[in-house]
Amino acid sequence: MTTQTTLQETPRHESSAAEGNGHGYAQRVRGARGPKIGASTIIRSQDVNKRYVMSEDNYVDALCDATLEIEEGQTVAIMGPSGSGKSTLLHVLSCLDSATSGEVYLDGRRVDNLSRRELARLRRSEIGFIFQTFNLVSSLSAIENVMLAAEYAGKKRRDAREAARRALAQVGLSEREDHRPTELSGGQQQRVAIARALVNEPKVIFGDEPTGNLDSASSAEVVEMMLRINRETGTTFVLVTHDPGVAGSCDRVFHMLDGRVTNGNGREAA
Ligand SMILES: Nc1ncnc2c1ncn2[C@@H]1O[C@H](COP(=O)(O)OP(=O)(O)OP(=O)(O)O)[C@@H](O)[C@H]1O
Ligand SMILES: [Mg+2]
Repeated sequence: MTTQTTLQETPRHESSAAEGNGHGYAQRVRGARGPKIGASTIIRSQDVNKRYVMSEDNYVDALCDATLEIEEGQTVAIMGPSGSGKSTLLHVLSCLDSATSGEVYLDGRRVDNLSRRELARLRRSEIGFIFQTFNLVSSLSAIENVMLAAEYAGKKRRDAREAARRALAQVGLSEREDHRPTELSGGQQQRVAIARALVNEPKVIFGDEPTGNLDSASSAEVVEMMLRINRETGTTFVLVTHDPGVAGSCDRVFHMLDGRVTNGNGREAA
């Protein structure tokens, strides 16, 4: 049986004009910048299925006709119970993993059928990814971690250093450039990871529970930072989260259940 699924949109967290103060989630300043108005679709998945096959009669349908559309410049949360397919969806949308069937579009271009080489290029230059466990290289300093991503995308060492410096300044860590991950707090490590995701100026940054390993104060700080970067640069953020506070700060919330993106438009999919 196939079930056409659509989106769930929860009410937007409309703003007062207040900027974040470091102690709570930033308030949205709607329309303060251009990218949110009249934005076009940046990500679209159409009837995406993902089946993990362990053996002939042992498989898991992790995604079932997952269909969603994300507008450029938005902050989007994906929520749902454990095992509902959130990470799988994020991996497919961000081209870290391939779908079994269905279509995925990034910035108007179909990406589910690209070659490995094209996918690698896309991931390097147009997509940033933030992990729950930060995934920094422990032997490298903050700036070296960020530079690595820039060099991987083809920048010369000197340009990579400049870009990394700018990205670390964007997340307020200029003073910590030479610190290794163990010499940084969890929140600071995640900010380095955000700088690394930002350094190649991607169109979209994906985060799989990016605040999952942080205490509430650090979590609020990291979320505020992402919201500020979103406002300032128009970068789209797609965040898997279990935290209603994080989701409440986003423009849209998609809900998943049993591999489906349950319906928005006032209805849950059957
Ligand atoms: N590599 C894999 N091989 C087989 N099954 C997998 C694999 N990865 C995920 N699954 C299964 O697919 C389903 C969806 O997993 P997924 O990791 O996407 O869930 P999730 O919503 O991110 O859960 P959580 O909130 O616990 O992170 C689960 O039933 C899981 O057991
Ligand atoms: Mg997950």
